[in-house]
Amino acid sequence: MQQPSHIQGIALETLAKDFGTPLYVYDGEKIVQQIQSLQTAFSAVPLRIKYATKALSSLSVLRLIRKAGAELDAVSIGEIKLGLLAGCPASEIMYTPSGVGFDEIQEAVQIGVMINVDSLPLLEMIGQTYGSSLKICIRLNPHILAGGNLKISVGHKESKFGISIEQLPEILELVQRYQISVAGLHVHTGSDIYDAEVFLKGGNILFEAAMLFPDLRFLDFGGGFKVAYSPEDSATDITQLGKVVSTAFQTFCEKYGRQLELWIEPGKYLVSEAGYFIVKATVVKESPTLHFVGVDSGLNHLIRPMMYDAYHDIYNLSNQEGATASYTVVGYICETDTLASQRQLHVVKEGDLLVLKNAGAYGFTMSSNYNARLRPAEVLIWEGKAHLIRKREQFEDLLHNQISIDL
Ligand code: LLP
Repeated sequence: MQQPSHIQGIALETLAKDFGTPLYVYDGEKIVQQIQSLQTAFSAVPLRIKYATKALSSLSVLRLIRKAGAELDAVSIGEIKLGLLAGCPASEIMYTPSGVGFDEIQEAVQIGVMINVDSLPLLEMIGQTYGSSLKICIRLNPHILAGGNLKISVGHKESKFGISIEQLPEILELVQRYQISVAGLHVHTGSDIYDAEVFLKGGNILFEAAMLFPDLRFLDFGGGFKVAYSPEDSATDITQLGKVVSTAFQTFCEKYGRQLELWIEPGKYLVSEAGYFIVKATVVKESPTLHFVGVDSGLNHLIRPMMYDAYHDIYNLSNQEGATASYTVVGYICETDTLASQRQLHVVKEGDLLVLKNAGAYGFTMSSNYNARLRPAEVLIWEGKAHLIRKREQFEDLLHNQISIDL
């Protein structure tokens, strides 16, 4: 299979030369295409795309996503502030925190974002503090087990997220007692969900609950649409998903008596495939059993393989022809740090550039300074030009907040 050597006509090799490695590269056109595919698939309903900022929150990417017509889902004040800086008005930001203190909720209310309430105690505090003056959304836990692995399954009974669907009577009691104004209901069951059926199942729970809330403006189906991580892997069929979910939604709206908005919160779907992570082979070594390639990066830059056993397709950018061999690609972090196990790559030699695919989502945003390593630079390709959107960190960045006391 021919792997990409260029993005929008720009050679990845040139980018590595110009900006150094390791390097995150994002294809802006791909991000826009993904947004457009959702807009098309859901064109039968009033759709709002609330991009899950946590997937990739670099300012220029947020700016591009907004330009393409999406709004934001944020999970921290930091993400809200990044969204505002990127030009997204507070009124278009959904705030879905998990178990934060009330001071953070108050700050978010001050800013003017929609609060997605994920516990009964928070609902009560909101009722006591704001009464009917604040429009909110309620996050329901639908008790659906879905998602690529247990760590990213968040809508099941044992998950910390949302208010259990079995606690609807308590929700209604609080809403009534404090005259809380409920504008939306939300479910998000997990990440890497292939099957449209799961979204319908979540939808049915929303539809049933919604009949008890007469003043709704929207129903939020969350995110989690699956992208393909390898050539054999498959992605959610967005056209089919849009069709079945929109049809069910319109039938519900007729029953409800009013047209509501349908919200979705894709993260991976918008940015995963747009991202390429370029690393350099620093050592090629053979053990009695394995052929290792060590690279100038590791779990500090891309933690998904070690954290979720995630598969990222990888190829040798510097040698795309001829013989292949099985390599285990490892990072430089001083603990087990495997980026890819026993993959067939065209023969690798020291200095070759390797590319990890699907690196746009939860790559840079989950990076760290572990082992006192510096975070990489980020480049966005937009309209055929390479734009540096984040500088590579320098040693001084590690010292930034440290205070070295005299002892
Ligand atoms: N909405 C809510 C409330 C969420 O918690 C998430 C993701 C999303 C939307 C977006 O999900 P997506 O479309 O990206 O699957 N770090 C993990 C994924 C964690 C997802 C957390 N919540 C990974 O790298 O696989």
